[in-house]
Amino acid sequence: MGTALNSFDFSEVPTLETERLTLRRISDRDRAAWLEVWKSPGVLDYLIDLESVPSPAAAADIIAWAERIFAEKSGIRWAIAPKPEGDLIGTCGFHLYERRHRRVEIGYELHSDYWRQGIMTEAVQSVLAFCFERLRTHRVEADVVEGNVASAALLKKVGFTLEGVWRERVYTRGGVHSLWQFGLLAPEYQARQSTQNGR
Ligand SMILES: CC(C)(COP(=O)(O)OP(=O)(O)OC[C@H]1O[C@@H](n2cnc3c(N)ncnc32)[C@H](O)[C@@H]1OP(=O)(O)O)[C@@H](O)C(=O)NCCC(=O)NCCS
Repeated sequence: MGTALNSFDFSEVPTLETERLTLRRISDRDRAAWLEVWKSPGVLDYLIDLESVPSPAAAADIIAWAERIFAEKSGIRWAIAPKPEGDLIGTCGFHLYERRHRRVEIGYELHSDYWRQGIMTEAVQSVLAFCFERLRTHRVEADVVEGNVASAALLKKVGFTLEGVWRERVYTRGGVHSLWQFGLLAPEYQARQSTQNGR
């Protein structure tokens, strides 16, 4: 893979294709679909920054956030749409891109009608490929509210290591919660790719 500096210039949101999914730019026309994701049972249980009562205004805010992080060159949040041209069923992406430290954090959520079909595994793998191969990050992080076993299982499946627990780090849903800190390093990612490709 080499150590060349990344050439991604944030001029436009790239569309990523997987076997079953298209990851594309989020726009204002996704507002209603994104709201449906939040409203689906269980989605908000462990999300840190989203309101517990989703509203159209909050959906507009989150789309504005997606546009802002891209404009600031600090992240991309993609809409996840089933092929060939489905509506948004979830989102995923990276944020807090620290160019100097070659580090990002990832996040994701999926409408609960689509859980446990390997969809987010597929989406996250393509985000990781983007981060490690195009952005040339060295480290990808993920913070998971303690008890979110689905998210932890997904991260372990795609190669992350549980590095520690941040005790009582966030106030959300009316209480204080600890966070599981996960990390994946470029050499670990590359070693897995080599194994999976039989090289
Ligand atoms: C976390 C989330 C995105 C997982 O999406 P998904 O498409 O259902 O995940 P996948 O089907 O790709 O599953 C990945 C792995 O996690 C496991 N997993 C998924 N949901 C699980 C659950 N509820 N309990 C235990 N394991 C679970 C799967 O079994 C799979 O492992 P396997 O292949 O060995 O069986 C989804 O549950 C979600 O949107 N949750 C609410 C939002 C959220 O928590 N976001 C992350 C914040 S850090």
